[in-house]
Amino acid sequence: MRYQLDKKGREADMDGNNSGKFSDAKKALSLAARYAKDYVVAIRDRRVSPSALDLDRLRHFNRDLSRAGQPAEAVIESLHRYGSPATVASTGGRFFGLVVGGATPAAMGAAVMNAAWDQVAVLEASAPSAIYLERIAAHWILELLTLPQAGSVGFTTGSSMANMVCLAAARNALYQKLNINLAETGLAGAPPLRIIVSEQSHVTVHKALSILGFGTRQLVEAPCDAQGRVRADTFPEVDETTIICLQAGNVNSGAFDPFAEIIPRAKARGAWVHVDGAFGLWAAASPAKSVLTAGVEQADSWAVDAHKWLNTPYDCGLAICRQQGAVHTVMTTQAPYLQAGVDVAPKDMVPEFSRRARGVEVWAAIQEMGAEGIAAMIERCCRHAEHLCAGLADMGYEILNEVVLNQVVATIGTAEDIQQIVRAIQEEGVCWFGATTWRGKTALRLSVSSWATTERDIALTLEAIRRATEAQLAK
Ligand SMILES: Cc1ncc(COP(=O)(O)O)c(C=O)c1O
Repeated sequence: MRYQLDKKGREADMDGNNSGKFSDAKKALSLAARYAKDYVVAIRDRRVSPSALDLDRLRHFNRDLSRAGQPAEAVIESLHRYGSPATVASTGGRFFGLVVGGATPAAMGAAVMNAAWDQVAVLEASAPSAIYLERIAAHWILELLTLPQAGSVGFTTGSSMANMVCLAAARNALYQKLNINLAETGLAGAPPLRIIVSEQSHVTVHKALSILGFGTRQLVEAPCDAQGRVRADTFPEVDETTIICLQAGNVNSGAFDPFAEIIPRAKARGAWVHVDGAFGLWAAASPAKSVLTAGVEQADSWAVDAHKWLNTPYDCGLAICRQQGAVHTVMTTQAPYLQAGVDVAPKDMVPEFSRRARGVEVWAAIQEMGAEGIAAMIERCCRHAEHLCAGLADMGYEILNEVVLNQVVATIGTAEDIQQIVRAIQEEGVCWFGATTWRGKTALRLSVSSWATTERDIALTLEAIRRATEAQLAK
């Protein structure tokens, strides 16, 4: 029987000791919604990086630990007054640092709903609607990325953790084939596996491997071409004790490894192929760009972020694995008080036990944009990157990468000139991006990953770069 409080019951409930707190929640949420809306409305026209004064005003928070606390409204008020101005406007359209998506309107709204729900995504029983939505979102993700529909999808904090989950599954699955049950024996005494990484693997792949007990001396680096793609013709030998880490989207150049050439050969020899596709895997969702990911679906596991190119709020990555069982063997937890559901419980797909239901925002972003909207967003970001590339070349920059996706790497003058240009641009505040080193040269590095970026944003960015470049080269 469904249990419902009648009106009298509800009033009695609100009249209990916490009635003050419930009305505080109402006030705090109204205020937070108003300030969040003001923040979003203003974001297009404000500085991207905070001013020195805004950063200095953060000192407001530097107080002794409060003994008595403060009303919720006052807490929200100080976040608005001192926290908001000192944020980086990465949900606007002119943040091109790292690889950072914005947050779509529905995903942002869903994050607010999700905070109010405050579900613990351990079991179906603890978060029914949230987990239902996560399962739908997982199914859609596999369809969008054209990955095996029976695969398991774990909602992680990001691709760092998704890489770790997938590589943990790989490690256990390969040892299982050698009749070694790591859960019982541990790694001590187990024969070493062969780990092949790209010369250009992302640092977080190395971190994941190190956490999993694979030392640097165990890693074989596969040579890359000038774009940062692993070379199929010089790819090291593999066997059934090999884990291969490939990449969809190099963090500098945006380049993709030649999956169709490497994966079938590796699989035929019994190796496990993992693909770090933190942002680049989203190319598979675009008819115009999916040629870049051809063959990627033949891998065993994939890491990809929702908080990058799907433009959900932080934080959300996805650990996708062809064999559900491989992930569950490593991540499973059992205890008498845990009620079993029909499907594999979320706690058995990722390292966390208690976690927020971050898949709700994934569901919201996909529901809002649809497959066509997502493809259009990806293609729009790539077009913006091409415009940046053309504008930079026009200013005399040497473009160091083939702009196949959303990344642009360009250089001019000396390494010191680049550092000064980047510093001037970051200080001016019109846009934000950083410097990198690519093919031995210090360069500007821009990543266009936000749904919010417009042609006007690109024009303003190019003007800012021209100003800073001319001023620096005239010195
Ligand atoms: C190629 C690649 N892999 C992994 C990561 C790590 O992702 P996250 O920051 O979501 O953990 C990044 C981040 O930029 C990346 O570009």
